Amino acid sequence: MTTAYAPGKVILCGEHAVVYGRPAIAVPVTEVQAQATVEPPYGRRDGRGVVIDAPDLNRRLAVREADAGDPLARIVRLALRAIDVQDEPDLTITVTSTVPIARGMGSGAAVSTAIVRALSGHYGRWLSSRDISDLVYQTELIYHGTPSGIDNTVVAFEKPVYFVKDVSCEIFWVGRPFLLAVADTGIESPTREAVSDLRRRYRADPGRYEPLFDRAGQIAVEARAAIERGQSEAIGLLLDENHALLQVMGVSCPELDRLVIAAREGGALGAKLSGAGWGGNMIALVTEEARGRVDLALRLAGAVRVIITEIR
Ligand code: MEV
Repeated sequence: MTTAYAPGKVILCGEHAVVYGRPAIAVPVTEVQAQATVEPPYGRRDGRGVVIDAPDLNRRLAVREADAGDPLARIVRLALRAIDVQDEPDLTITVTSTVPIARGMGSGAAVSTAIVRALSGHYGRWLSSRDISDLVYQTELIYHGTPSGIDNTVVAFEKPVYFVKDVSCEIFWVGRPFLLAVADTGIESPTREAVSDLRRRYRADPGRYEPLFDRAGQIAVEARAAIERGQSEAIGLLLDENHALLQVMGVSCPELDRLVIAAREGGALGAKLSGAGWGGNMIALVTEEARGRVDLALRLAGAVRVIITEIR
């Protein structure tokens, strides 16, 4: 029996603009995670091939019966090929996850990463974080349509990443660890729809959106420098500005705006929506002294879950 894990994630800054080639920063959130356990059918082969049991996702399926567009079956097929297992073995893969689904926290990427890690561990074949990220990207295409690749990257590397689509992915130095409150609106964030709606509006009027994407990308550059230097106040201001840009891009919603305002009033250094928007999560940069006040303010403003995570 082999068990492996993968964390959730949030986008610190640059979401949506990253789809248009601008830099973005994402960080892992280890307080939530997906877990995959690979077990052989102890005793004789039972001939059923790989069976995936995923109670948290309400799914149980035999990989050989699943169609090509099924993300769970797809990651198993890709992982077996990558580790050079030719004939489909008889295995049960049990998947559980505490990463909230459809909230911009990378639940699909976390589940896929945990499965790849568990299979490679089971067969004793090492895959690099880059290999795993590339495999998981193939399932992100199924979940999200046209993903930038930032989610699979940060989940597979489990470190803060500075990411430019199709160009680079850099793990960078966090000068001074900082705290983020991650608060859930309780509303599903439809990544695929939010991204394609923005694309439709962008195509109709690129001149309106290009400057917004440019500034969001510049915020990622400045935020990275501020994180490396440990300048929390500067990071907070950049998060606030990024939220304002996302509002103009049309991907916020009243529930997210309410949480952002509540976090600032509770003493956060800065706050913004995180991920695709129209629901899902927001993040707030908090000091040790303000964390309790911000947590309470977020819950009073309607957050269904608040996680405080340390970024290091
Ligand atoms: C989703 O976590 C972030 C988006 O920028 C989409 C993507 O990067 O694929 C909205």
